[in-house]
Amino acid sequence: MKFGKIERSRVAQSISHVNLHYPKPEDGPAAVLLLETLGLVLTQEMAIPTGGSFYRFTANANDINHPDNIVYLSPLPPATAGLFEAARAALGYGTENEHPAVAAYHAAQAMDPEFDFHVGFLVDSLEFLEERYQALKRLEADDQRFSGRLKVVVNRALPGNSEIDARLDASPLYAGVTRYTYGRNGVQAFCMTDLIVDGPMAEGIVIEFDYVFPGYEDHIMSVSEVTDETIRA
Ligand SMILES: [Fe+2]
Repeated sequence: MKFGKIERSRVAQSISHVNLHYPKPEDGPAAVLLLETLGLVLTQEMAIPTGGSFYRFTANANDINHPDNIVYLSPLPPATAGLFEAARAALGYGTENEHPAVAAYHAAQAMDPEFDFHVGFLVDSLEFLEERYQALKRLEADDQRFSGRLKVVVNRALPGNSEIDARLDASPLYAGVTRYTYGRNGVQAFCMTDLIVDGPMAEGIVIEFDYVFPGYEDHIMSVSEVTDETIRA
């Protein structure tokens, strides 16, 4: 079968890995605990001579050595940290003379956590997703390393399917939520954190977890139906 111009029928292609960074060497253990709380499996830790550790995680708990579904995690390299520092200084970041582009970016990010670079994972159990995000909230409440460093935002499936609507009304994570996904028959949960700093200005990253209700051709990962971001306001 041809997709576009290239013959693909005998080739399997998937996203192999994403390479993420925590801000300072001492943030490593907390960043690891965060990813483990979100369900990733830590498979390797290797000390780095300049401080901190390099970690390998997989989202595939059933085949941990499989060469895709991998997250690498290590301290922000000095050259990258230096670049962000210089960029922030040039923009007057956090000062009275801050470039207006910074506030505009923050406003857009507050409206939609996935408008910019982010990393998304798919799970096949809504109960697991709900349980992991409840654990995330407990982590922030009980462990001061996470205090003020995690923000959870969730989107319900677009309304209209009575079975799904009822399930979400009974959910510890989605009951009463008035933010919605761009498509149908699935839900999203986002964790915004500055314990992992990839993304513009090294302010933090958004990690997304999705669940798609089984049995539907059209769902949040197959078709985006809404483009108006105001639905999320
Ligand atoms: Fe997304």
